[in-house]
Amino acid sequence: MRPAKKQFDRKKTLSRLLKYLYHTYPVRFVLIFIGIILTSIGSLAASVFMAQIIDNVIYAGIETGFDSVKGTLITLLVSLGSIYLIAILASLAYQQMLCTVTQGFLYQMRTDMFKKMEKLPISYFDRNAHGDIMSTYTNDVDAVRQLISQSLPGIIQTLFTVTILFGVMLYYSIWLAIAVLFAVFFIFSVTKRVGGGSAKYFIKQQKSVAECEAFIEEMMNGQKVVKVFCHEEKSKADFEVLNENLNHNAYKANAYANMLGPIIHNIGNVLYVIVAIIGVVLVVNGAPNFSLRGFGTADDVVFTMIPAGNMGVALTMGIAITFLGMSRQFANSFNQISMQINSVVMALAGADRIFELLDQKEEEDQGYVTLVNCNIDENGNIIETDKHTGHWAWKHPHGDGTLTYTELKGDIRFFDVNFGYYPDKIVLHDVSIYAKPGQKIAFVGATGAGKTTITNLINRFYDIQDGKIRYDGINIEKIKKSDLRRSIGIVLQDTNLFTGTVKDNIRYGKLDATDEEIYQAAKIANAYDFITRLPEGFDTMLTGNGSQLSQGQRQLISIARCAIADAPVMILDEATSSIDTRTEALVSKGMDGLMHGRTVFVIAHRLSTVQNSNAIMVLDHGRIIERGDHDVLIQEKGTYYQLYTGAFELE
Ligand SMILES: Nc1ncnc2c1ncn2[C@@H]1O[C@H](COP(=O)(O)OP(=O)(O)OP(=O)(O)O)[C@@H](O)[C@H]1O
Ligand SMILES: [Mg+2]
Repeated sequence: MRPAKKQFDRKKTLSRLLKYLYHTYPVRFVLIFIGIILTSIGSLAASVFMAQIIDNVIYAGIETGFDSVKGTLITLLVSLGSIYLIAILASLAYQQMLCTVTQGFLYQMRTDMFKKMEKLPISYFDRNAHGDIMSTYTNDVDAVRQLISQSLPGIIQTLFTVTILFGVMLYYSIWLAIAVLFAVFFIFSVTKRVGGGSAKYFIKQQKSVAECEAFIEEMMNGQKVVKVFCHEEKSKADFEVLNENLNHNAYKANAYANMLGPIIHNIGNVLYVIVAIIGVVLVVNGAPNFSLRGFGTADDVVFTMIPAGNMGVALTMGIAITFLGMSRQFANSFNQISMQINSVVMALAGADRIFELLDQKEEEDQGYVTLVNCNIDENGNIIETDKHTGHWAWKHPHGDGTLTYTELKGDIRFFDVNFGYYPDKIVLHDVSIYAKPGQKIAFVGATGAGKTTITNLINRFYDIQDGKIRYDGINIEKIKKSDLRRSIGIVLQDTNLFTGTVKDNIRYGKLDATDEEIYQAAKIANAYDFITRLPEGFDTMLTGNGSQLSQGQRQLISIARCAIADAPVMILDEATSSIDTRTEALVSKGMDGLMHGRTVFVIAHRLSTVQNSNAIMVLDHGRIIERGDHDVLIQEKGTYYQLYTGAFELE
């Protein structure tokens, strides 16, 4: 889990979350609110009716005979029943709606997050560990689910209940209400102190869980390395530290949380006793009672029915008993809120991380030059068309309203390009490259020299600080990124295969490819033979980045995936590094056929692969130190010559 920012504004996060929720389901949001309120009214009805039944039915019945109060009793019971019925229906309805809203909201949130993620620049993934981003989708979304489906409705219901309860109390007796108010004050201060401690540790606990998970995952992936270096004991010890940390934080979090319940419960008990004492004093001694109903002593009304319309002024037995019930309900309500506090804190921390992801700056694209299908007539005029013609052109709108078309050829030029992943650490210095359509340009150089970095700039994974890159004469910053990338086929240095069949993986390069095209691409990549020997041939399922294949086989599939894309520019970054020399020669031959009319950038450690290139760039610490074809570089007897002869000796 990404650590929460040190300070985040919980109120702001909560209000943003509620707004988000409201915008997703405006009508249901309001209906749920009404449902919660009706449900809490139902939960209060019993207490309020209790006073009426004791005073107006039981005591009145004792005085005047039960026949005379039968009507009142029936009216009261029917009213109570009706309120309960409404409350049950409201509760059922709102719970159902809540289910729809919660799940729908989470669905929406995940969609928004994923949509956002697909628009983020590559540099975002450089800065954030993948496990952390992942945990936003799992842990953080789940924390928000708990908040929306349980904590928030519970808290709203409780807050509403206690407000009404307090109003009823004031209505019946100000003395008793004041006693309750004191208890509330106590409960608040205790909750704040203890709850704050537990919230702090709950957040720490979440972080420790994530660290443990990340460690376990890493150890599982690296199990072979652990065994090779006999580091089982060390990894056990490392895990022990993380596990102890988790244990400590979880213990603290729960110890604090478990303290809160009993404390509040006992404050509730004390409150119960205080209310009982005050009640007895007021009722038995006929002491003056102040209430919103008026002022009076118990003597006025004790054991008599309060006549309708009478400004009933005293505390009756019925009210005193009801008060006891209400004070219990009051304390229980606070108890419930206190139990939700941790999940609220955790959910808001999670929501904050989700919003942080949603607020990330997207990959900018000011490109307006697009790639279109075209026909080229005998005079060389380019005519745009909707049909797939196999010919492409850059459509370039100009400021004066005119349009020009430039045929897509694959001419790529770098002019004095400077670039660094971080502004203060320049990786490429004054790089100039001229690659004409149909040329094969090779980059060689030591590890970390900047070979992959150059290819990252061609398709604008990163933007350059200084200099210019032109594609068919157009500054690549003017080209719409998706169109630019569509016109470039890449075999990345790190092979990445997706879960799916071999066929699906090759088809990834061209979604509407026919089976025949897939077989053809596999043949070019020299992958056809081994694929047909797989248990289910092209339909063999690949999982876990193709872990059931050899490294070289994975590379061959990714070469086939690139070949099928049929792009005018191809970049092969160490595409054949794990492939044996014989297969490499075959792939190379296949690729040479494919390369006809294309611009190809190759990065290879084996110099035999790059020998037939039109130009070889020797890179050293981000600078091109030699350039020329194989023969020229050999004659120059520089770095390339040394590498070449050195490699020869090695072989
Ligand atoms: N995502 C990144 N963020 C920051 N620095 C990076 C990043 N990728 C590469 N670098 C740095 O840029 C420099 C050039 O790296 P690059 O990957 O281009 O090397 P390379 O020539 O492809 O090496 P190799 O032969 O090992 O693939 C290195 O110093 C590396 O540390
Ligand atoms: Mg590289």
